[in-house]
Amino acid sequence: MFIGIDLGTSSVKIILTKKDGFIVRTVSRSYDLLIPNPSWTEQDPNAWYDQTIDGLKELVKGYENEIKAMSFSGQMHGLVLLDENDKILRNALLWNDQRTIDEVNYLNNYIGIKTLLKNTGNIALTGLTAPKVLWVKKHEPHLFNQISKVMLPKDFLVYKLSGSFASDVSDLSGTLYFNPKTRNYSEEMLEILGLTKAMLPSIHESYETVGVLTNEIKKILNINQDVKVVVGGGDQAVGAVGVGIVGSGECSISLGTSGVIFVSSENFAVDTKSYLQSYCHANGKHHIMAVMLNAAGAIKWWNESILNNKDYDAYYKSVVQANGNDNLFFLPYLTGERAPINDPYAKGVIYGLGIHHKKEDIDFAIVEGVTFALRDSFELIKNLGIEINRIRITGGGAKSNVWAQLISNVLNIEVVKIKALEGPALGAAILAMVGNNDYSDVVTACSKIVKLGDTFKPNSELVDKYNRKYQDFKKLYPALKELYKTIK
Ligand code: XUL
Repeated sequence: MFIGIDLGTSSVKIILTKKDGFIVRTVSRSYDLLIPNPSWTEQDPNAWYDQTIDGLKELVKGYENEIKAMSFSGQMHGLVLLDENDKILRNALLWNDQRTIDEVNYLNNYIGIKTLLKNTGNIALTGLTAPKVLWVKKHEPHLFNQISKVMLPKDFLVYKLSGSFASDVSDLSGTLYFNPKTRNYSEEMLEILGLTKAMLPSIHESYETVGVLTNEIKKILNINQDVKVVVGGGDQAVGAVGVGIVGSGECSISLGTSGVIFVSSENFAVDTKSYLQSYCHANGKHHIMAVMLNAAGAIKWWNESILNNKDYDAYYKSVVQANGNDNLFFLPYLTGERAPINDPYAKGVIYGLGIHHKKEDIDFAIVEGVTFALRDSFELIKNLGIEINRIRITGGGAKSNVWAQLISNVLNIEVVKIKALEGPALGAAILAMVGNNDYSDVVTACSKIVKLGDTFKPNSELVDKYNRKYQDFKKLYPALKELYKTIK
């Protein structure tokens, strides 16, 4: 059997699967998101490790002798720093942390976009790892001087579980000190950041075995045989494997805390004009993606932080009671935004409230606003000339049929669900199988394992209605852009 570990932002989800992808058991453990300052997000890497071990203990019970390999999907871009004794130097800075505005300006304007594109195929964004390195260098030089190892979140788990200091091309693509075209570190970027190769993990394809579980971990889990540790990848690439987006020009949308439109491709493509991210895929090839920071995360915020509601069926029941006919809009930029506006100052807004509005109208506006923002990114991808006929949806938000239909109507495209909703964890399990040589490659494994579920087709009347409303949605951000900078 195989283990897929999805190290997310709110929790770690772990699955145990058979070779045909059948999920035998699922466990999950959550940990805190630390917000030491309104635009900062951090997590304690030891909490990831402790909760993963706790989850694994429950997961393997009764199946200890059958486990052959495990692999990982990790929240991307996070900066984990260890000193020479492997002590964690500070909490990890996360992908949605927005503190690096100055560092991003320095990289894009002083080092220059031309140099960045030449060395990394991408431009600087607040979430990426390199600006975080510069932030620590400037604000915490006493810690910077003690750095011995720099790693990404899932690499920390790989290191603790196997002792191998290793990473993979899909996750490293999001650092801005790695070149996805050559699949190697960029010497020039390392020099700019003040890092050396000795501080960085060895580079692997996502499906490569980098070690076996240490004796200490085997003892904790009651396992006797060798269990291969396959390095895994960034959550977007591994999530795409979990829904079978591994062929050229195929597209998925992941509805997690963030919302990501992902297209897999044979070749490396650089988007010089906008804010798409062009990275290595976990199947050995490439992909391009548009990332919005608040998708299911915004719906969770509305329900859990504002309404104090955890019953999402009740939320979506309320959503269908509203008709969305009037001009009530939600801009979902709760933690700033990446694609397509790349604006760390952007904030959430509910626009157009009237005395006649009821709770269900706002419920509707929230999910509709997130979906309009998804359409913004979808248009960017289509503008690259990529023809997309249908999309697969994945992530926690994909559980809702109401949202799936809304996406189909707003994007005017066929939306297909996947039978297993555990996209990234299943993707990780698939990588474990390939690393264990149970399948020859990722594409073959996906074709045997990933099963399609319900399809949602656009309703032409509603497509027209949302199309009209979307034209107004698009006017709101440009009108607020300057205000966001002055009223912070
Ligand atoms: C991708 C990205 C997010 C995180 C969160 O660029 O920032 O998908 O990996 O899970």
